[in-house]
Amino acid sequence: SALHAVFGQPISHSRSPAIHAAFGQAEGIALQYRTIETGVDSFPAALQAFFEEGGRGANVTLPLKEAAFALCGSHGTAARRAGAVNTLVWQQDHWHGENTDGSGLVRDLTSRHGLDLRGCRVLLLGAGGAARGVAPALLDAGITELVVANRTPARADTLVDALGEPGRAVSAYWEALNEQGDFEIIINATSAARSDTPPPKLSLGLVNSRTSAVDLNYGAAAVPFLSWARAAGCRKQIDGLGMLVEQAAAAFHLWHGRHPDTDPVYAQLRTQTG
Ligand code: ATR
Repeated sequence: SALHAVFGQPISHSRSPAIHAAFGQAEGIALQYRTIETGVDSFPAALQAFFEEGGRGANVTLPLKEAAFALCGSHGTAARRAGAVNTLVWQQDHWHGENTDGSGLVRDLTSRHGLDLRGCRVLLLGAGGAARGVAPALLDAGITELVVANRTPARADTLVDALGEPGRAVSAYWEALNEQGDFEIIINATSAARSDTPPPKLSLGLVNSRTSAVDLNYGAAAVPFLSWARAAGCRKQIDGLGMLVEQAAAAFHLWHGRHPDTDPVYAQLRTQTG
């Protein structure tokens, strides 16, 4: 059966093996999917060893998405626009890199949570790897404006420049977000909840009665931002669990040619995650 893996550090708590096992079972596809713990420096050798064992498809997560991009001989559009790869597909003689994070988020927001992204003003908090991964797909989904705010403003400027849609993708100072009006969607793509320092405060003026708050984190790491969102009066609070399942389904499709039903796996993870 086909050998797959997710590479990252830390990786032992990854849900990806369970998700792919469930997809494989539902689709009648025999597969092995394991976790491989590796940092940036040892990633090329670890990927080579995996290949020699028969591995022909892999996911990568923190902190390897940029390293994986550099290692791939060809890239899909989403990966190129994000400058990051989360899915590797062996093609004849090289690794092809894709990025399913952004399309996974968009699919979760639209299909599962019923959001219509067209015409929306979206505030994206953060400008690291997670933000880079989802920004292009949000623009492609027809939002009107993407405002990127980051603790370190220069990184927001860099992300916005890379998106190459002046006027539609703009950066803003986090401390001056109260001048930006309100947003239909506010997305937390920071890792603030996993750090020791609290993020800069957010103004209640960012929220209207139709605002949806989205955290790319899930579990305990999604609690601070989504609690703020609830208190601020956001209509919906959405964590990153659905995106996790959808990015996996898109990777599964790239490897196996079939898009699994994500609802059963999502429901099962939800009961485990709260
Ligand atoms: P990831 O792949 O999770 O995005 P990353 O590339 O290290 O990880 O990016 C982390 C993001 O969270 C960055 O936008 C970072 O802001 P800085 O660029 O200013 O570092 C943001 N972040 C991390 N800790 C934060 C905190 N305590 N408050 C606000 N933003 C924070």
